Amino acid sequence: LADLLPAMDGDTKTMTFLQEVVDILLAYIVESFDRETKVVDFHYPNELLQMNNWELQDEPATLDDILISCRATLKYAIKTAHPRYFNQLSTGLDMVGLAADWLTSTANTNMFTYEVAPVFVLLEYVTLKKMREIIGWSDGRGDGIFSPGGAISNMYAMLLARFKMFPEVKEKGMSSVPRLAAFTSEHSHFSIKKGAAALGIGTESVICIKADESGKLIPADLERRILEGFVPFFVSATAGTTVYGAFDPLIAISDICKKYNVWMHVDGAWGGSLLMSRRHRWKLDGVERANSVTWNPHKMMSVPLQCSALLVREEGLMQNCNQMHACYLFQQDKHYDLSYDTGDKALQCGRHVDIFKLWLMWRAKVGKSSLFEAIQHHCNLKSSSLYLPQPCFPQNIPRSGAFSPCSFCVFTQPQHTNVCFWYLPPGIRYMEDKEERKKHLHKVAPVIKARMMEYGTTMVSYQPQGDKVNFFRMVISNPAATFEDIDFLIEEIERLGQDL
Ligand SMILES: Cc1ncc(COP(=O)(O)O)c(C=O)c1O
Repeated sequence: LADLLPAMDGDTKTMTFLQEVVDILLAYIVESFDRETKVVDFHYPNELLQMNNWELQDEPATLDDILISCRATLKYAIKTAHPRYFNQLSTGLDMVGLAADWLTSTANTNMFTYEVAPVFVLLEYVTLKKMREIIGWSDGRGDGIFSPGGAISNMYAMLLARFKMFPEVKEKGMSSVPRLAAFTSEHSHFSIKKGAAALGIGTESVICIKADESGKLIPADLERRILEGFVPFFVSATAGTTVYGAFDPLIAISDICKKYNVWMHVDGAWGGSLLMSRRHRWKLDGVERANSVTWNPHKMMSVPLQCSALLVREEGLMQNCNQMHACYLFQQDKHYDLSYDTGDKALQCGRHVDIFKLWLMWRAKVGKSSLFEAIQHHCNLKSSSLYLPQPCFPQNIPRSGAFSPCSFCVFTQPQHTNVCFWYLPPGIRYMEDKEERKKHLHKVAPVIKARMMEYGTTMVSYQPQGDKVNFFRMVISNPAATFEDIDFLIEEIERLGQDL
């Protein structure tokens, strides 16, 4: 290891070493897309701890050992690029995005100033402007930042909303502010509550608004709750809820926000990417009326993790809210336009370069006919999956809320690529007692999932929601998946659940 750069004459050894690492990575990538390989080579934590020497040693390892560690790490990694991986929202592996990620790591710099990241700062500037144009803000005006994820982008939005209404909070803290209330649907992402907790607003100040059967916020309930007391300062509408993929009615919500002078945020972490689809962007009609929007290209647009943007309509607000003027970084007498030293807008000091992956993929994939082909692909797959063979899915989605003989979808009329369904194994299919059947059904998905992971053939997630017992939640955002892969998943569920 001592022979690698920056050692004198370390070039050749470094090239050989890195070439070997690249070979390992390339082999992994090819394997990841091969349907004959497993999605996961699963082992229980204790077993896995013992299967390899993961402990940190007192002596440095040799180069060969380092390569062995790389191979072992990938051997037990979940192949999130695998066509049969449907587990969570960030799936797939994009080759251009990956190349950009490698470049980013090689450049190994920090987003805080133009001084140390000139190209990346400019790319962030042009990309955020483009995203704002797509949202519909005139001339792409406004502000924004790439943050470590949708949860943090949402927290930024809440922070800005509070600062906009009570700028004194920055210096004086929460004791200078009346009791606040934030509003979001009962189906919204948990990060809204986390943000409230982190900002000292408190989770009890987040009022959960009722959603309808399909998971959309009910505007009348929002208005009713806004009128209840405390100072309403923030409404977070969700464009693409995590579980159901529901799109809250943004126009109606924006009317209420305007009426009561409340900041409107749109959490489009999951569904925001539909803005890139000519066919589906209507689901976000009204997004241009928002004060801020979270949009995660690392979900539906398959940009490698992490890549999340917060877009803000008002210029200058982020700067005022967050800047601390650290003079070792943001000297005011530098020799270039200081507006490009964007780092003081962030809550972080050092900030990872997340922009290059998105920018390069955008260049490679955005065309005139369809802004982002992959999104159309995911949406097509979703519609197919609603007509899969029995017993996992009914031929038609049942209109009634009753159990169909074999299985049924959790809600009718999916709006996004989330498909939520129960599988009813033979053992409970004809159970008379509904409560008893519910109790059994609750245990079905976890058992099938555990078996699925042990076989390693595919992965899908499950969960309960409100009074609904555990159901499978399949999220289609994997560009490698085909109709056949979805069929495979369904058949696998059936195979693994036959005896339940
Ligand atoms: C609607 C919604 N908002 C926010 C988030 C959080 O995003 P991240 O995981 O990038 O923090 C998620 C994640 O699934 C989400 O679905």
